Amino acid sequence: MRPLSPSCRRVTPAAVSTLVRDAPAVSSLLSSVTRGAVVDLARSTRAPRLRFVGAVSSPAFYAPVETELKELERRLLAVGRGGHPTFQAAVEHVFQTPGKLLRPTLVFLSARFGTRDDRETVLNLAQSLELVHTASLVHDDIVDRADVRRNIPTVNAMWDGDVALIVGDYLFAKAYALAAVLPKPEVIAIVAQTVFALCDGELNEVTSPPTMPTEAEYLERIELKTASLYAACCQGAALLTEADPEHVAALGAFGTNLGLAFQMTDDILDLVGDEAEFGKAVGRDLQEGMATLPMIYAAAESSGQDGELARRIVAPGKSRDEVIDLLRIIRASGGPERARARALGFHDAALRALDGLPARGEREALRDVADFVISRVR
Ligand code: FPP
Ligand code: MG
Repeated sequence: MRPLSPSCRRVTPAAVSTLVRDAPAVSSLLSSVTRGAVVDLARSTRAPRLRFVGAVSSPAFYAPVETELKELERRLLAVGRGGHPTFQAAVEHVFQTPGKLLRPTLVFLSARFGTRDDRETVLNLAQSLELVHTASLVHDDIVDRADVRRNIPTVNAMWDGDVALIVGDYLFAKAYALAAVLPKPEVIAIVAQTVFALCDGELNEVTSPPTMPTEAEYLERIELKTASLYAACCQGAALLTEADPEHVAALGAFGTNLGLAFQMTDDILDLVGDEAEFGKAVGRDLQEGMATLPMIYAAAESSGQDGELARRIVAPGKSRDEVIDLLRIIRASGGPERARARALGFHDAALRALDGLPARGEREALRDVADFVISRVR
């Protein structure tokens, strides 16, 4: 394990509580997350079973943890309080559309399988991991030179890359301040390890050579950059609330498989999604030559891993016409549907992991989260 930096300033519980105290009015979380629908992949008839994964049009999985989510949303909006005016403005901007809040929902649901009820520490973990997630997206948008996320301008588009870099650092420091006062060192270590994994996954992506990755290389990358955080939410919450070790393991396996299914779905949507519904530009992975699973499958189907289509896909900085032509080719191939079948396999593995948990409402809610992830449009 790589060493943690010793230079972090010590943050007292009192200081942390001032980070999260008082906030503007709660915005309408539920209205921002009720627009789920199934992506239209009906172009292919290869895997009819996919059509039977239901769209979660009204995500009932929020209901058991709605109080905690509203409190979390209030605290997120207050994160900028006391900070530099630009940071305050950026926080208000970023959290005006808080997103689906899937990760904190997983924290709150998973915590219900513990033997210890400690609302405040669970809220701190949920906020810490959501801030890690937000910081990573702010930084990722610099790397991607992305202008839009969640249908609003990115921080780098609203201000510039320098501001976005520091805003991301600021959010990340807030996340650590919250994690540092968690009562269990192993959960603090999980937060740190997750950040290592995110950085490894992102570096893996930005330093990868312009060649078509294997499926195993792709899986390793998305496990690091996405699934690690989902696992941390589920496993961290279970550890924090002293769940039975078997339940901790089941929730960790659920989170990893769910995260893999989520990222695969995201990668499919980057090729076949509707920009307004997806909330960000479509075709960016292709534009940058970042090969994802549907592209790997499309290339293999056309002429093998090293063929002409593979070379065109991994070429960086493509023209708009080339992106449009490649989108047409990949959409017409079996790549997206085959990738969706693979995502469905991880969704099913996530559901199997839930069998290791006691049957109760929160287990059903986790099942609904998994269905939502595979059927979402954004
Ligand atoms: C989004 O994925 C990006 C990530 C999941 C990870 C980004 C990680 C870093 C930038 C490392 C730094 C981390 C911290 C905590 C400061 P994507 O690019 O596939 O999705 P997108 O289409 O939404 O951009
Ligand atoms: Mg990105």
